[in-house]
Amino acid sequence: ARQIGTLVIFGAGGDLARRLLLPGLGQLVDLGRNPDFRLIGVGQNAMSNSAWRARVAKSFEAGGATGAKARALAAETEYLKADVTNPDDLTRILAACTGTPALYFALPPQVTIAACAALAHVDLPAGTVFGLEKPFGTDLKSAVALNRQLVKLIPEQQIHRVDHFLGKSTVLNLLGLRFANRILEPVWNADNIERVDIVFDEKLALEGRAGYYDHAGALIDMIQSHLLLVMALVAMEPPSSIDAEDLRGAMAQALRATSVLGGDPAGSSRRARYTAGAIGGRKLPSYVKEPGVDPKNRTETLTEVVFGIENWRWAGVPFTLRSGKALERARKEIVVTFREVPHLPAGFSGKPGPAALRISLSPDDISLDLNINGSGDPFTIDRVVLSTEFGAGELGPYGEVLSGLLSNDPTLSVRADEIEECWRIVEPVLAAWKKDAVKLESYPAGSAGPAAWRRSRL
Ligand code: BG6
Repeated sequence: ARQIGTLVIFGAGGDLARRLLLPGLGQLVDLGRNPDFRLIGVGQNAMSNSAWRARVAKSFEAGGATGAKARALAAETEYLKADVTNPDDLTRILAACTGTPALYFALPPQVTIAACAALAHVDLPAGTVFGLEKPFGTDLKSAVALNRQLVKLIPEQQIHRVDHFLGKSTVLNLLGLRFANRILEPVWNADNIERVDIVFDEKLALEGRAGYYDHAGALIDMIQSHLLLVMALVAMEPPSSIDAEDLRGAMAQALRATSVLGGDPAGSSRRARYTAGAIGGRKLPSYVKEPGVDPKNRTETLTEVVFGIENWRWAGVPFTLRSGKALERARKEIVVTFREVPHLPAGFSGKPGPAALRISLSPDDISLDLNINGSGDPFTIDRVVLSTEFGAGELGPYGEVLSGLLSNDPTLSVRADEIEECWRIVEPVLAAWKKDAVKLESYPAGSAGPAAWRRSRL
């Protein structure tokens, strides 16, 4: 792979660049893992170089990157006002790059699609790398069309579809946990596992993101974009190596076998939207009263979908993926629940619960719920939890993702077929919702979700 000479951020004035990309970039630069490169910010609004530099420096500091290398990059970066859907502007941007460019599209999907169409009329330097933010396309059809358009521009290996969840250290720790321990893999199957839950409940509400979120909703924002890929890491066959071919091949294979459980999108999914409430003393308006929300979109802010993976390893095991906003408690974890023992010798009292492995994404820890005899009466079954912290990664998720982009190693980026599978998997659910085959329920912001969901599991 060629060395990247210039990183260009499209959408440089946006929230994503400020809050996530630049802090991650600063961390990476400070670590000195990648060779030096230049940074150019591109946005549709005018901004002076000095205002942009101050902005970059502030974001670097927010990510804890205050070393000499990060400071130098912030001091030298330049900003260009440009329309990235205009081929002439794109040519001007490329002319400002030195060495091989990496173009990072921190843009809404429609603008990314238009920018890629415009790039067909521009001479791209050999080796150019793309970074594309989620959501990738707006449905299966547009994702397929965008993928077709992209490979006409540059080879697939140079396309980095970003899912920052794949850069989360705890998600990456799944690999070591599963494949570097003899004890897990032999029981990692439908014979021994009862169910798998992947939950990403947030206390955060809309946070001013209506322009994007009101068209996405929890299903696309989290399940299509992130949690199905996490599920693929949990469910995939052991890859022979952790590289871009083998890892992504194994994930794609798991996704190809996935669909809503029992082929019944209405019976396997739930959706709800928050009404007015309060979280930690902070009052929240009803979702439909948030600025920029169109109630006609009927956007869900909480969803739960049960999937099945139809292969020898997993047939019949429900994988429940759930995510929502404005909830009482932030619960972000993967829970693997094992089947109960086939027989408990008579003479024990107390009922053992199933053994369960919990991999928590925040805080980053892992725990195993087990049954033991315990103290006191030795024939009473007690429950214990073995737990340990994973420890933070050297880089945050965006630093990890950008490291892959700048060294042109797409192992942690999402391959075209994986993205298309993720859309294929959720489309029947979206279609059932569109037909109103699933009620849009409600829950007060700051609650644990609709009361009925708490009493019964899907
Ligand atoms: C983003 C979603 O991709 O991931 C957000 O758009 C969500 O809605 C976020 O809050 C969660 O990831 P993290 O790592 O920022 O907690």
